[in-house]
Amino acid sequence: MNYRHAYHAGNHADVLKHVVLARAIGHLARKDKPFRVIDAHAGIGLYSLASDEAGKTLEWRDGLGRLYDGAGGRLVLDDETAETLLSPWRDMVEAVNSRGQGLEWYPGSPELSVLLTRPDDRLVFNELHPEDHETLAGLYTREKRVRVTQTEATIAVKANLPPPERRGIVLIDPPFERRDDDVRALAMLQQGYKRFATGCFMLWYPVTGDGLSQRLVEAARQSGIARMLQVELMVRPAAMSGGLAGSGLIIVNPPWPLAEELPGLMPALSERLRQGGASWTVDWLAGE
Ligand SMILES: C[S@@+](CC[C@H](N)C(=O)[O-])C[C@H]1O[C@@H](n2cnc3c(N)ncnc32)[C@H](O)[C@@H]1O
Repeated sequence: MNYRHAYHAGNHADVLKHVVLARAIGHLARKDKPFRVIDAHAGIGLYSLASDEAGKTLEWRDGLGRLYDGAGGRLVLDDETAETLLSPWRDMVEAVNSRGQGLEWYPGSPELSVLLTRPDDRLVFNELHPEDHETLAGLYTREKRVRVTQTEATIAVKANLPPPERRGIVLIDPPFERRDDDVRALAMLQQGYKRFATGCFMLWYPVTGDGLSQRLVEAARQSGIARMLQVELMVRPAAMSGGLAGSGLIIVNPPWPLAEELPGLMPALSERLRQGGASWTVDWLAGE
């Protein structure tokens, strides 16, 4: 296991993933009934932008850094509707930083989930890497709603589904280090769906020009899973060995009105994050 998310936290792919996650959690929280967040690849929860890792790549500057100025002030999107859709994510970014200073911290998926959920909601964060697991567990020792585990993500997904609340969101966010990770990720989604067909699942994928994203999306389309939405943001055209040109999410059972609102977000967000010719997609891979 070589992957450490600290090198990448706050990059353009994190912005897309976390803006969508924050909206999805917000929509689930509209109903009184409690729900559960299951984060199968949780990372460390909260990332320092001053860490050696962040400093080495400075990836966050072309993600988070395009949405905030040096004093931590909002660089608002040109489109008002799109800017409003960023609010839940922005509020949480600002909640972990001090007012009037440059940003120092970036909330990962666990921290966003903790901040956006209610006293009766429950959270399971799973992280396999020993050091990252320890950091994550340390962050939430006092948070009674959170359980932190350290198993293979596949096992974590199976073991936690269906949740007792029968409502919830499952984030599958693998590092895609291995050639067959697309196959493993889709298998995880299918196994999870089999146990919890009414749950919301979010599977993140990278677009790098190696064909993985097309294979994964096509396999998802053929999987028999219903109500499956794809959102993808390319900050530049993908090229072989050209790095992370974009990313996407396959979202099963997107909570209303996520599918309807995303087309209002993507033009302005892609314009802000672009590093060349940007493009975006919001598309149903499978209907009801
Ligand atoms: C992309 S990062 C997660 C980022 C996090 N979800 C966020 O959005 O803030 C992927 C994480 O999965 C962990 N990981 C890698 N292989 C795993 C496995 N087989 N089971 C569980 N976690 C794994 C890595 O250590 C890494 O921290």
